[in-house]
Amino acid sequence: MIGVSTKILGRKIIYFQEIDSTNEYAKRIAMEEEEGTLIIADVQRKGHGRRSREWASPRGGIWMSVILKPDVHPRHLIKIVFVGAVGVVEALEALGVEAKIKWPNDILVNGKKICGILAEGKYSESKVDYIILGVGLNINVDKDALPPEATSLKEILGVELPLMDVFKVLIGKLEHWYGIFKRQEHDILFNRWRSHAILNRKVRILSEEGEFEGIAWDVDEDGALIVETPDGKMEKVIYGDVSLRYA
Ligand code: ATP
Ligand code: BTN
Repeated sequence: MIGVSTKILGRKIIYFQEIDSTNEYAKRIAMEEEEGTLIIADVQRKGHGRRSREWASPRGGIWMSVILKPDVHPRHLIKIVFVGAVGVVEALEALGVEAKIKWPNDILVNGKKICGILAEGKYSESKVDYIILGVGLNINVDKDALPPEATSLKEILGVELPLMDVFKVLIGKLEHWYGIFKRQEHDILFNRWRSHAILNRKVRILSEEGEFEGIAWDVDEDGALIVETPDGKMEKVIYGDVSLRYA
């Protein structure tokens, strides 16, 4: 039994030693479950990021997904990724680790990815059925079990941390920022996001339609990245099938 002090997130916890993917499991049960049900596993066999890209999920990480059913217009759902990012960064901060947000869904420490966030939902044009907030955080994971561009808390701190302690800090922070999202205090959310994000930097945007370079200045009220191209045009890049590289 995992004892947590949050009111919504984790009021029901479904734990697996091993699973395909907590996000996939969450999607399978989401319609029948109450908001806040959280799925967590020691190991994922088929953990994934965007576009079904493989997410390494060996023992020693937090691989979790929480089912959320906010009573908001579906256009706001994209902001759940921002809730996840700010929550993770603040949880790491509470553990003494300074992390940065790489738009849209990566958390970096010393330039290496320590955490990925994946929000996947079911909604129509006017109604939200659910949105799953998936978080993968490398804690006591050995370097050789991760891709070369990744890092873990163990690598940064030089010690292993009890997963449960990190989990409790994390869901406390996520619940706090989810409350702000539900109250539609979007400015508070975006301002905090900005203060932790890597902005004012030259970036390369890659998508199936092609590539372009520019300077990433900010995000707009819908979470789109505002990029100034060399000819001075402001392009808005929407979270979706795009990748960002720092140039
Ligand atoms: P992109 O790199 O194209 O901007 P992304 O960073 O959001 O996209 P995804 O497309 O969602 O990443 O795919 C996950 C990527 O994360 C994989 O390509 C892999 O390089 C990396 N990765 C996989 N497992 C881990 C892990 N446990 N920790 C850190 N990074 C990982
Ligand atoms: C990213 O690519 O940056 C997002 C990775 C998200 C990984 C988490 S781990 C828990 C949940 N289950 C999954 O299969 N993916 C997410």
